[in-house]
Amino acid sequence: MRISIMTLFPEMCERVMEESIIGRARRAGKLQADCWQIRDYTLDKFGRVDDTPYGGGMGMLLQADPIYRCYEAVCQTAEKRPHVIFMSPQGKTLTQDRAFQLSRKEHLLLVCGHYEGVDQRVLDEIVDEELSIGDYVLTGGELAALVVADCVGRLCPGVLSDHTCFTEESHWNGLLEYPQYTRPAQWHDQGIPEVLLSGHHKNIEAWRHQRALENTWRKRPEMLEHANLSEADLKFLKELEQGEQICSQEDSSNEENLA
Ligand SMILES: C[S@@+](CC[C@H](N)C(=O)[O-])C[C@H]1O[C@@H](n2cnc3c(N)ncnc32)[C@H](O)[C@@H]1O
Repeated sequence: MRISIMTLFPEMCERVMEESIIGRARRAGKLQADCWQIRDYTLDKFGRVDDTPYGGGMGMLLQADPIYRCYEAVCQTAEKRPHVIFMSPQGKTLTQDRAFQLSRKEHLLLVCGHYEGVDQRVLDEIVDEELSIGDYVLTGGELAALVVADCVGRLCPGVLSDHTCFTEESHWNGLLEYPQYTRPAQWHDQGIPEVLLSGHHKNIEAWRHQRALENTWRKRPEMLEHANLSEADLKFLKELEQGEQICSQEDSSNEENLA
C-alpha cells in the first residue's frame, strides 16, 4: 500500500514516519509513504498559498489552486487515482473498522488543511471522504494524517509479524483487550493471575475473553451494545453486574454503620 500526505509541513510528517513499525515497514518495502509540499505547487512568486476568506471573518484559508496542482502531481506518479481523504474536524470519526477498510486500498492521499481551513471548491473537486480524529480542533491536519497513516499502516498485510497482533487487540471485535503481564512474575507486592502460568491454552483463552468482557464493561460499557456477545458472555456480564450491586450494597451498609 502507498500513503501520500499533502501538507505545508512535509518534514514533520516524514520525520514521524521514519520511526518504529511504520519506518521499518517502509524500509522493508511493505509500505510506501511520501510527503508532498503544497507550497511547491503555488504559482505565486512569493510562495503564498493562503488568502483571506470572502465575506470577511478571522484567519486565512488555503487556496484551491496550489492544492489542486499538488493533487495532480501526486496523481501523475500513480497508475490509478488515489483515494483522497481530507483531514477535517467535520469528517466522520476514524474507527478501527474504517482503518481496516482503508488498509485494503492501494493508495491513500491524505490532505492536511491549515489556518482556518481550505477553499471549499477544491475539496468538492478532489475529496472522496473527510476523516476526523475526534471532536476537537487541531491547528493543522498533520497530526491527524499521521494518526491515520500509523493506524492504517500497521493493518496493511505484512507490516505486523502476525495478524493476531491486531485481531486480539482492543476495538477489533467490539471489545477492549484483556490485561497483560510480562516478567518478572512478582513485581512490588503484585503477582500475576495463576492461570497465565498454567500452560493450559484453553483456560488462558477463556480467562482472557472474560477479562476483555470485564474491561469493556468497566471502561466503555456503551461498546457492549454493539458487540457480538454469546449467551455465555451475557450470563457472565449479568453475574458481574450482580456482584457489583452486592458490593455497593455492602459498602453503603458499612457506611451507615459507621455513621
Ligand atoms: C484550525 S483547523 C480548521 C477548522 C475549521 N475552521 C472548522 O471549523 O472546521 C485547520 C485544519 O486542521 C485539520 N484538523 C483540525 N482538527 C482536526 C480533527 N479533529 N481531525 C482531523 N483534522 C483536523 C484540518 O485539516 C483543518 O483544515
